Amino acid sequence: MRQPLVAGNWKMNGSRASVAELLAGLKAGIGRVKAAEVAVCAPAIYIPDTQKQLEGTPIKWGGQDVSVHASGAYTGEIAGPMLTDFGCHFAIIGHSERRAYHGETDATVAQKFEAARAAGLVPILCVGETLDEREQGITEQVVARQLDAVIAHCGIEMVGQGVIAYEPVWAIGTGKTASPEQAQEVHAFIRGRLAASSPVVADSVRVLYGGSMNPKNAAELMAQADIDGGLIGGASLKADDFLAVCAAANR
Ligand code: PGA
Repeated sequence: MRQPLVAGNWKMNGSRASVAELLAGLKAGIGRVKAAEVAVCAPAIYIPDTQKQLEGTPIKWGGQDVSVHASGAYTGEIAGPMLTDFGCHFAIIGHSERRAYHGETDATVAQKFEAARAAGLVPILCVGETLDEREQGITEQVVARQLDAVIAHCGIEMVGQGVIAYEPVWAIGTGKTASPEQAQEVHAFIRGRLAASSPVVADSVRVLYGGSMNPKNAAELMAQADIDGGLIGGASLKADDFLAVCAAANR
């Protein structure tokens, strides 16, 4: 049995005050979440505050990116060991916004996955097609390419120590969610791709859905056989909404 995981991706949102309020709300309401493991991925500068507020609670925290390097002359970068120094459990790797706006290639993403694991973090590897790619009918090709790059570089066993997030780019922040059937189809494809290298890993690795998941659509998405939770952007910025998405995994 794969334990569902619901992770919030705050992206570049918030202030010290709003982060404190959001975390207080999550702590107060986490008791209603029975089944899912819950995490928030904070902007790096708010990770120390997040750690202070969440330590001793069931809620885990993480970063939104990690450098391919462990330390050195890389101005502006955050290394994996710096994240674990502040108690981070997870790191988002290869989010489509980083691929699109920061030129992260499949090769860079694979190196980042490896760097996160080397620091003891659980990488949440994001894959997904653009609208143009979906319309061209090459969704599976794109997702396979993104996944295969990490399997080839890190090995299937290491991939099994992480989490995969299927995030169709056209559904991110747009209010357009993939239908449960559309999402399940790609999730099943991802699991099949993993199974070609290791049926054991394919069976145990969690594959999250991300892209406009919210309290209204979460239960139906998470009821699909191969959807093991969500990576939540917009709806993770309000405690009530995020907790409702987390509780949608209660069975
Ligand atoms: P969204 O973002 O929930 O706001 O669509 C999801 C993500 O980008 O991880």
